[in-house]
Amino acid sequence: MNPDFILFVARASLMAIPLYLCNSMALVFGKGKPIDFGKNFTDGKRLLGDGKTIRGTIAGIAISSAAALALSAIFPETAVFLNANYALYGTLLAIGAVAGDFAGSFAKRRMGIERGESVFLLDQLGFVVAGLAFGWPLAQPTELEFIFLLAFTMLAHVIGNRIAFLAKIKKVPW
Ligand code: CTP
Ligand code: MG
Repeated sequence: MNPDFILFVARASLMAIPLYLCNSMALVFGKGKPIDFGKNFTDGKRLLGDGKTIRGTIAGIAISSAAALALSAIFPETAVFLNANYALYGTLLAIGAVAGDFAGSFAKRRMGIERGESVFLLDQLGFVVAGLAFGWPLAQPTELEFIFLLAFTMLAHVIGNRIAFLAKIKKVPW
């Protein structure tokens, strides 16, 4: 098999795993106290809103960091593919994904957009861009890897929503 192809798939997957895990584990485990403690910003609107919880945030970062740590311990090749320690890189990706997610919610609240109301591209891709930016000191995606990750994330979002619609978890297929 073409070694360039193997390198591409390995690197893109290693980048995607902590980013996706972080968001999905926050969704699975997120309930209870909001991380902004219900506080408002100077504009009288919520700082982040009830959609960002302490539990979800901790679960997201902890599980994705643990996954990266486990993968780096089991497969030393991760460091070769990325030219960086994957345990550390995965943790940076997760922290960045959360930071991007918080920044997105902060911006939405300032614009008067309610919790859960979606903003096209910001909701789907913000965490990917922010995560990769946080990881930048350790590893940098190539242009192709970056474009692939964005396109794949959008596609996964569309397919995920359609499945949720067919499974009657969501009322609309988007
Ligand atoms: N979640 C959480 N903690 C986080 C991120 C997400 O508990 N740090 C959970 C919340 O239950 C949230 C759900 O995952 O409702 C979906 O996440 P997201 O779409 O990011 O939040 P929204 O509810 O859409 O809120 P917002 O409008 O602020 O994005
Ligand atoms: Mg949302």
